[in-house]
Amino acid sequence: MNARTSTRLRLENITVKFPGVTAVDNVSLEVNPGEFFSLLGPSGCGKTTLLRTIAGFYRQDSGHIYFNDECIDRIPPHKRGTGMVFQNYAIFPHLTVWDNVGYGLRARKVSREEAARRIQAALELVDLVGLEKRKPKQLSGGQQQRVAVARAVVIEPHILLMDEPLANLDAKLRIRLRTELRKLQQQLGLTTIYVTHDQEEALSLSDRIAVMFRGRIAQLGTPEEIYQDPATREVFEFVGEGNYLDGEVTEIDGDSVVVTLSTGDGVRAELGGRSGAGRPLSKGTQVVVSFRPHEVEVVPQGAHGDPPGENTLRGTVQHLDYLGAIVRYHVDIGKGMTLLAEHYTAQGVPARQGDQLTVRIPPARVKLFDTDGMRIRGRGS
Ligand SMILES: Nc1ncnc2c1ncn2[C@@H]1O[C@H](COP(=O)(O)OP(=O)(O)O)[C@@H](O)[C@H]1O
Ligand SMILES: [Mg+2]
Repeated sequence: MNARTSTRLRLENITVKFPGVTAVDNVSLEVNPGEFFSLLGPSGCGKTTLLRTIAGFYRQDSGHIYFNDECIDRIPPHKRGTGMVFQNYAIFPHLTVWDNVGYGLRARKVSREEAARRIQAALELVDLVGLEKRKPKQLSGGQQQRVAVARAVVIEPHILLMDEPLANLDAKLRIRLRTELRKLQQQLGLTTIYVTHDQEEALSLSDRIAVMFRGRIAQLGTPEEIYQDPATREVFEFVGEGNYLDGEVTEIDGDSVVVTLSTGDGVRAELGGRSGAGRPLSKGTQVVVSFRPHEVEVVPQGAHGDPPGENTLRGTVQHLDYLGAIVRYHVDIGKGMTLLAEHYTAQGVPARQGDQLTVRIPPARVKLFDTDGMRIRGRGS
């Protein structure tokens, strides 16, 4: 089974309104042929609305949608050639697996022989051969979702649209199916838009991700760009655990900036790399110092009186989460500030509740946000 020539999707200034809410607010983006593209964001940010607009179930209030160079604004849903997979499977309970998968082919008046060949190929693709005669209630959740995927790809869609397809499955199955989905998508070379609120799913599956809040795209990039180089604090917070410590800029030397926290500790940030869009940084600017809990290094306890070293913070372990592979410390560093620090248990568990803990923050890992949550970047060098 081959996808027809892979399709490029272009959204141009798409806005979709419901009474009292702008669900999608002037979104423009382009998805490359064969790309696995995710819409990631919290519940209510407009992901489903955007997906259903691409499928044609909703008509945008303004803007245009293009498949390759063809504007499809006026093409009805069943003629757009999109395959859709939903969270709740939406397969027909009274039809067998075979008939469920073949449903879209009958509607498209594909000949019996051709339909049989394609259904067979789709069932092989999702590993359901042998279960053709079963009804949905005789299948597990994972198998039902495979039926839904087979039904979507059997029509050889231009674009595959998936709306939280794994959300109803248990954690282990979710991870297995997500690997299978990615393999299948690559095998078919099928342009895919995948909606999820699960950052791990988006990071692990996607070629690129658009992170959405309140109907808008906050950032669009590869999983690494989104995770390592967030445009805003909101993006940084949404895709992983983080530390957010308030402070004031007290030293600027090119892209090397020192922020003094209210505890009196100085934290150096190396803002090298990509230069930013002109947010002026001057001494006295209030900023938020951010880094991920796994980016810090736990400093071994030395003899008394050892100097703490550069970019270290020290405090009392209030609480620790033992998570098996890692231990996550909640460290009280004073002035009401708590620091999260993670450590691989393979290297031991260096402190317990009530113990003192010192961590070092690599200056290159530190991100600064202004008080509006916008990223402060270096000038580039
Ligand atoms: N059919 C609808 N009628 C009215 N409001 C809707 C409808 N669908 C979604 N909304 C509203 O639009 C916003 C975006 O919803 P949705 O696209 O479902 O978000 P997501 O899929 O990201 O959770 C929300 O405020 C939601 O309440
Ligand atoms: Mg949704």
